Amino acid sequence: MSAGLELAGVGKTFPGGARVLEGIDLSVAPGEFVCVAGASGSGKSTLLNLVAGLLEPTGGTVTWDGRPVTGPGPDRGLVCQTGELFPWRTVAANVAFGLELLRISRAERARRVRWYLEEVGLTAYADALPGSLSGGQRQRVAIARALACEPHVLLLDEPFGALDVQTKEDMQIFLRQVWRDTGTTVVMVTHDVEEAVFLAGRVVVLASDPGRVAADLPVDLPAERDLAVRRTPEFLALRTEVEDLVRLHHTAHTARRPG
Ligand SMILES: Nc1ncnc2c1ncn2[C@@H]1O[C@H](COP(=O)(O)OP(=O)(O)OP(=O)(O)O)[C@@H](O)[C@H]1O
Ligand SMILES: [Mg+2]
Repeated sequence: MSAGLELAGVGKTFPGGARVLEGIDLSVAPGEFVCVAGASGSGKSTLLNLVAGLLEPTGGTVTWDGRPVTGPGPDRGLVCQTGELFPWRTVAANVAFGLELLRISRAERARRVRWYLEEVGLTAYADALPGSLSGGQRQRVAIARALACEPHVLLLDEPFGALDVQTKEDMQIFLRQVWRDTGTTVVMVTHDVEEAVFLAGRVVVLASDPGRVAADLPVDLPAERDLAVRRTPEFLALRTEVEDLVRLHHTAHTARRPG
């Protein structure tokens, strides 16, 4: 049995007939950082929800460490596109939420909440309510909440989509650091190609209607990356290649519409 994540011939057709994904084959090895890029509506969130176990495939199989995914589990932590927090819980209590569900002891809960709030730089906000935080801070709490359960794979759905450029860059640096510190497998959805190439070791491009894997490209950049890497010829070449692929598979989709 293969370790990590394995999608074999995965399809998803919603009740009512919307055929959103078809024939998705994708393997992610433990410790990999994979970004999934693709046009809006190509099925990126649907794909992530299938891996999280929030949706069931209508074709093919999703397995994690050789076992079929049948529902959500603590081995897979999802940070969804809207990054919802519980508004009535303090930041610390938000981070503790999954740990309570897992019946982790009070002492261990306190230790992990401290550790992960420190990791996301929000120790000073432990007792604050989400309503008093900025968007970037809230997103960091959502990531800390997912990390606190120490999942084997972290599933991120456009976690930085709503942030300004500066905050987004801080978060990208932070996320790569967390990934390198913890060795967690990361599957992240983004439509920002520069972000995908900067963060990932591999970029998967989805084509639309139905969503399928159009390309799967290794990112041959140094493991030790800072933002300056984005100006190197290697980076720019790969970024252009991925942007062209996203555009190609988007245009092909609109051009096929009867008119
Ligand atoms: N529960 C559902 N029932 C029916 N259709 C759905 C459902 N969820 C998603 N879809 C459809 O599936 C397609 C893909 O949606 P999805 O949210 O996966 O796209 P996406 O790639 O994440 O887009 P975006 O970049 O805008 O977030 C869309 O056409 C959407 O309308
Ligand atoms: Mg989406």
